[in-house]
Amino acid sequence: MIGGGQLARMTHQAAIALGQTLRVLAAAADEPAAQVSPDVVLGAHTDLEALRRAAAGADALTFDHEHVPTAHLERLVAEGVNVAPPPQALIHAQDKLVMRRRLEALGAPIPRFSAVASVDDVDVFAARIGGPVVIKTIRGGYDGRGVVLARDLAHAREAVAGYLADGVEVLLEERVAMRRELSALVARSPFGQGAAWPVVQTVQRDGICVEVIAPAPGLPGEVAAEAEALGLRLADELGVVGVLAVELFDTTDGAILVNELAMRPHNSGHWTMDGARTSQFEQHLRAVLDYPLGDTAALAPVTVMGNVLGAAQTPQMSMDERVHHLMGRMPDAKVHLYGKGERPGRKIGHVNIVGGGGQGSSDDSEYVAALRERAQRAAHWLSHAEWTDGWDGH
Ligand SMILES: Nc1ncnc2c1ncn2[C@@H]1O[C@H](COP(=O)(O)OP(=O)(O)O)[C@@H](O)[C@H]1O
Ligand SMILES: [Mg+2]
Repeated sequence: MIGGGQLARMTHQAAIALGQTLRVLAAAADEPAAQVSPDVVLGAHTDLEALRRAAAGADALTFDHEHVPTAHLERLVAEGVNVAPPPQALIHAQDKLVMRRRLEALGAPIPRFSAVASVDDVDVFAARIGGPVVIKTIRGGYDGRGVVLARDLAHAREAVAGYLADGVEVLLEERVAMRRELSALVARSPFGQGAAWPVVQTVQRDGICVEVIAPAPGLPGEVAAEAEALGLRLADELGVVGVLAVELFDTTDGAILVNELAMRPHNSGHWTMDGARTSQFEQHLRAVLDYPLGDTAALAPVTVMGNVLGAAQTPQMSMDERVHHLMGRMPDAKVHLYGKGERPGRKIGHVNIVGGGGQGSSDDSEYVAALRERAQRAAHWLSHAEWTDGWDGH
């Protein structure tokens, strides 16, 4: 797996159970996956020689992020490496303009968009859509970095001018009026098998995913089925191998639009580690190894995942002690820590709260609210060493 982040770390965890060893290409020995894999190649994902060293003798080469240049991957394919997903699929997770154009050609529902050659394109596009504009870097963005929700036309022009002056390519999108964001997570194997997990709701703060509710509460059955079918169709049309996350907008008029694609395990699938029969990490490996795919059924009526994001001020209390207290107070909370240093806003772990009992339902707003409160409380405790409900352990 190229990349030594938390996704590779958790994929390694799944590889162990399958009797596999995950070699990782990491930039440094202290990266989350490099800490746990016995087979680490140190190097840059932009260095063809390092990629060759990582691929040598491996059954397949896959990714924890989408930033490997496709020209390198094409070379590796020509040299006989099994690259999964293949570069002609991965490009749609790398380049938002290529993705938008392909989805348009496939007739998938997407926001109106435009390529940008000069600042004046902003005025033309804004006049065409008659509403607020979003500016996005075409490549390299993540966690909302590279996305500007412009306040007005002047702000949009200023943002585009700044990017263009730095030689950064951008595109424009209409700002979608939405109720919430959803994610359709699927997997596809080279054999052509596909599997979809229940569609989830994702909650973003400052462009970063902070919470996932599985399944998406109150989502009409036909919309959920449409989103799952869309995910499976896109995986097939694009020739994806492995997990595909289709980030979606649930618009105020009840439609769904595709935001972007990721071809790897995704934050919106972390709930599957404890809340589904097959986790996204195991499924990614099954798909990449062309094994039959696993059952994607949920194990509980609702599972909520809370991301642990580094606090503005790292607490005095050690993480070890925070974990100890959390376990004492919330024995059902499932903790996943990534072995990363704490920095403000950085994803350092997540907590899953799996709803108990057969009586709960994702349509029961009190049941969902109680699980969300507990996931939030646990995640906030781990990052801040503060109980959101004012509880005093003493
Ligand atoms: N066209 C849009 N309209 C409204 N909000 C948007 C739009 N595009 C992106 N966003 C918001 O910005 C977030 C990050 O955008 P995204 O394209 O997913 O970038 P990233 O690669 O950083 O995840 C989205 O999850 C959403 O909250
Ligand atoms: Mg995104």
